[in-house]
Amino acid sequence: MAVGAQHRRGPFKVGDRVQVTDERRRVHTLTLKEGGEFHTHVGVLFHDQLLGQPEGSVIENSEGVRYQALRPLLKDFVLSMPRGATVVYPKDAGQIVTMGDIYPGARVVEAGIGSGALTISLLRAVGDTGLVHSFERREEFADIARGNIAAMFGEVPPSFRLSLGDFQERVVEEHEPGSVDRLVLDMLSPWECLDAVATVLAPGGVWVNYVATVTQLSRVIEAIRSDGRFTEPEAFETMVRGWHVEGLAVRPDHRMVAHTGFLMTTRRLADGAVGIPGSRRVKDVTFPAEDVSAWTADHDPEAWTAEGLGERGLSAKKLRRSARDAVAMGRAAGADLPDAGSGSEVNGTHATQPED
Ligand SMILES: C[S@@+](CC[C@H](N)C(=O)[O-])C[C@H]1O[C@@H](n2cnc3c(N)ncnc32)[C@H](O)[C@@H]1O
Repeated sequence: MAVGAQHRRGPFKVGDRVQVTDERRRVHTLTLKEGGEFHTHVGVLFHDQLLGQPEGSVIENSEGVRYQALRPLLKDFVLSMPRGATVVYPKDAGQIVTMGDIYPGARVVEAGIGSGALTISLLRAVGDTGLVHSFERREEFADIARGNIAAMFGEVPPSFRLSLGDFQERVVEEHEPGSVDRLVLDMLSPWECLDAVATVLAPGGVWVNYVATVTQLSRVIEAIRSDGRFTEPEAFETMVRGWHVEGLAVRPDHRMVAHTGFLMTTRRLADGAVGIPGSRRVKDVTFPAEDVSAWTADHDPEAWTAEGLGERGLSAKKLRRSARDAVAMGRAAGADLPDAGSGSEVNGTHATQPED
């Protein structure tokens, strides 16, 4: 059975994560254990009532309050798991998997891992025979992500590797030139990684960038264009608008997530090949260097900090707590995990070099 599938089917069992929803649509997540209890101000729900029951059961607590019980889907899990960095939302993860052409058996490299939300989608897409090798410079984030991944799959999948350090330095030590099929970066300054990406990505390999601001999008695309080793980049974003459908009241929801990030894809050309320029390039227009520099803040390296790009910082205390929570969640799901802060990496059992 595929890794993680045992936690997704059949009657509820010990170690399963279950979402219970009450009649006011309040949702609580439990990890089932024998003799476990879930207390609210309106009574107690005993885990033993759920163990052995089919998914989708509706049960009553000690005071007759009804709860509908289902296993969280990937989208539910990633939005409720412990976080450090901002996560890639499911709507964008779906686009990354599709537009990045992530396929079963692929060798995928990503950085940084953040909270591991995107990694979970990548691991699902490559399956048990592929490889997702994540690089992360901050140990607390690596701990959070590893715990979340273990909680999602019930173990650390053999197709997962995690290395600590700067992507651009470590990826070229860990992967042969031209051996990576797909590469996904979600970080502040992906343009700093251009040489490393061009080295490890196979000819035809897809590079996806996810960035939060148009200034980052502009800078990375112009860097890729002037480098010449890649195809003309394509940029896009996704907006998902929920709908309210009730009788004759059928209309868009009043609220939506208005902005998450921008996506960009490009592909590695064969060595020595000269790419075909994008058809939409405006001819006979020059962009004065000082305008481009003002836009991309070349003159001010400080502008490219997390704060400069509008990201909220997180306290070290909050990060440590998230890391401990994520490790505890992964252990409750049955995974054997090192303590948060131990500085350990993950050596997936799958090969990292191309097959002969
Ligand atoms: C926004 S978070 C990634 C979120 C992640 N994709 C998710 O879905 O949970 C960005 C991460 O990139 C890491 N990072 C930034 N630059 C890096 C680099 N050059 N090498 C490795 N990690 C880097 C940061 O420490 C941070 O954890």
